[in-house]
Amino acid sequence: MDSYFRIAGSLVGPAAIFAILAVAGCDAPPGSFNANDLYAQVVATRQNSQPGQAAADVSMVMESLFGTPDAPKLPNAIPTNLVDPENLTRAAGPVYSDEDDTHFGIYRSRCVVCHALDGSGAGPAAALQNPYPRDLRAGVFKYKSTPRGEKPTKEDLLAILKRGAPGSAMPAFDRLPQEDLDALVDYVIYLSIRGEVERRLIQFAVTEMGYGDQDGAAIDSERLILDAEGKLTDPELRQTVSQIIENVAGQWSDPTPITVPPMPDFEGDDLVAAIERGRELFHGQQANCASCHGTNGNGQAVTLDFDDWTKEFTTLLGISPGDKAAVKQMRKLGALPPRPISPRNLSWGVYRGGDDPETLYRRLVAGIAGTPMPGLLVQEGEGSTGVTLDQVWDLIAYLRSLGDLQLAGTSR
Ligand code: HEC
Ligand code: HEC
Repeated sequence: MDSYFRIAGSLVGPAAIFAILAVAGCDAPPGSFNANDLYAQVVATRQNSQPGQAAADVSMVMESLFGTPDAPKLPNAIPTNLVDPENLTRAAGPVYSDEDDTHFGIYRSRCVVCHALDGSGAGPAAALQNPYPRDLRAGVFKYKSTPRGEKPTKEDLLAILKRGAPGSAMPAFDRLPQEDLDALVDYVIYLSIRGEVERRLIQFAVTEMGYGDQDGAAIDSERLILDAEGKLTDPELRQTVSQIIENVAGQWSDPTPITVPPMPDFEGDDLVAAIERGRELFHGQQANCASCHGTNGNGQAVTLDFDDWTKEFTTLLGISPGDKAAVKQMRKLGALPPRPISPRNLSWGVYRGGDDPETLYRRLVAGIAGTPMPGLLVQEGEGSTGVTLDQVWDLIAYLRSLGDLQLAGTSR
């Protein structure tokens, strides 16, 4: 009986997905972005209080600053060379094309089903994916040319849109016209800045204002209140909010790619020797790759770990990701069920973040932000693994031999 239902379930699966997609496609026009209730709960739990009305009130302030999904606004602190207002209008809003065949509503037609209207990554098709679509609101990106803690460049975002993330559900959008891709890049930045501002404001409301207290939420002087023009009534709060927007937008102003030294000219025996040195490093103490990726990168070293998006509402709050009851409470607020993150099986030769040598070099030096994959920290001094720049190339020669890629080959 049990197995009959399982088979039936798997047959129903694809049809159910189409049903979900169809519903998502012709939904009633969404009025507002969802409030980030999950993050409010996270912040409150950290300090043993309650989130009260914090997420809802912050959401109201956010709407006055950033507009709605159909009518987005750009706060002054976000420069127009970072987010072009025209691109914002084209990427947002309902789906249509004008008489010149310019596309509008591109995010809604191409991305919403996975990344959701607010960029939370919890779209209608998300639950079926591993890894989940990115929650853009945390402002953390995995596949980029910049140091671990920094924002990606616009070129990085463009690259992932064109390439997709092979081996994950993130599709390649290389057939879209360049102007649509540019609009999407700007919209990803808009959603990300918006989401991060929202998080910081929630943090401020819960920790610095009266929201967390049992009766504080009832005291108007302790709440975020807008006047008739949609401005915060309290000038000090207005100042705080502008400062937050400036700080978040500022992080996007000048992300600098990691400098990649020229790749040694490996040929013939030199390449064989480099691969051998790489193999030793990979399995040795210093680089320690095999401790997670397994012998010859076969992905077999079992490490139970989670990405930062999951840890935020579980382990970092002392909640075990396997604690069904506690996780259920978080799921009611928008969390997706926790899924372990596995180190990649490198013998497949499939890289989500690009497989050309330069990209791999940056990946190994910076690691993968938001995940347990560490950077090699090749610079000298404290925290350094002692791995040298030349040795990074040896590792890459080895990696590419595992995946059957030629060292100087073109990216797939
Ligand atoms: C079918 C589902 C799906 C669709 C449609 C989709 N994505 Fe994704 N996207 C994903 C998944 C899954 C990931 C996470 C990949 C990972 O973590 O390795 C992702 C990751 C991303 C990232 C993060 C890259 C990084 O470096 O961290 C960005 C940005 C992104 N998607 C933007 C978009 C945009 C813009 C669209 C629409 C044009 C879109 N996605 C459509 C599933 C999707
Ligand atoms: C603490 C565990 C850990 C260690 C140590 C580690 N990795 Fe990883 N690595 C991971 C995880 C987890 C992922 C998958 C990240 C994801 O799915 O987003 C990963 C992904 C990768 C990827 C895939 C990148 C892509 O674009 O898809 C490469 C390549 C890689 N690791 C190489 C290495 C090398 C080389 C070393 C040693 C210098 C190393 N890793 C050390 C955990 C680790």
